Amino acid sequence: MKRLAWLLLMAATGLVVAAGPDPRRPGIDYMTPALQALQRDDTQHPGQLWVQEGAALWQQTPIKGQACAGCHTTPPDAARHPSWDERQARPITLAGRVDQCRQRHQGEAAQGPDGAAVLALTAWLQHQARGRPLAPPQDPRLEPWRARGAQLWQQRFGQLDLACAQCHDQRAGQRLGGAAIPQAHPTGYPSYRLEWQGLGSLQRRLRGCLVGVRAEPFADDGDEWLALQVFLAGRAAGMALEGVSLRP
Ligand code: HEC
Ligand code: HEC
Repeated sequence: MKRLAWLLLMAATGLVVAAGPDPRRPGIDYMTPALQALQRDDTQHPGQLWVQEGAALWQQTPIKGQACAGCHTTPPDAARHPSWDERQARPITLAGRVDQCRQRHQGEAAQGPDGAAVLALTAWLQHQARGRPLAPPQDPRLEPWRARGAQLWQQRFGQLDLACAQCHDQRAGQRLGGAAIPQAHPTGYPSYRLEWQGLGSLQRRLRGCLVGVRAEPFADDGDEWLALQVFLAGRAAGMALEGVSLRP
């Protein structure tokens, strides 16, 4: 009896050691305690203004077409993106879906991920999913895009000749100028960046990193942004979403 208990204990601890703790850390872990507290306090977090605006837009009856809430009885799950867009036969981000529904069902012009209404609605949807694990779809059609993103992740860019992986895999936790280098998980986008004095999309954040290594950013509608976002979502699968984050 005693022996059996011992064996069970060994098996259990063996499993724990084999699995190990998750080495992945969300961006909030790399911030100062003061900024972490600000991100956690919805009454102080400036990004909450966009969340409130998004909540209003979700209900609002547009001049043409129907309200978002009129078709979607429950808000779509922000944790399951980028997903596959059947019509365009390519991946689509959450911001891309929001933009698409506005065009198709409300007669609005395309805005892109950093348009005012798209940002607000995406922020609100992201806020609904706070704490949920990132669960990108297991769709084989996304695989070539993930592979392309993984390749871009390792590719050196710009006058500084640096790859994303060199900073975010190899130097995460170190400091670069004034900033801590995070692991680059897409768990908190759109994000309110103090440097921007406003809310911005994940694509805008990625663009900032390319400019940072003095590279020419990809075209605004370039496939590279999508491929990187599909890759990043897979790399962070299972991590808890931060909602709208705050960043230096
Ligand atoms: C020279 C180092 C460096 C390189 C190369 C680099 N980044 Fe970054 N990246 C940073 C730093 C530093 C930050 C944080 C900046 C801040 O918060 O002020 C950051 C932030 C990010 C974030 C936001 C993470 C969060 O928690 O909000 C993502 C995503 C990201 N980078 C992706 C990329 C991708 C994709 C590439 C390659 C195309 C790349 N980065 C290349 C240094 C780098
Ligand atoms: C007339 C009905 C209708 C309206 C109004 C509408 N949608 Fe949609 N929405 C759809 C349908 C149908 C889909 C399924 C995807 C497709 O169209 O290919 C969808 C898909 C989505 C998705 C992706 C869901 C997922 O899980 O992949 C999001 C996000 C979304 N809509 C947001 C919005 C927002 C934000 C608004 C308001 C600006 C809106 N929708 C207005 C019908 C609507």
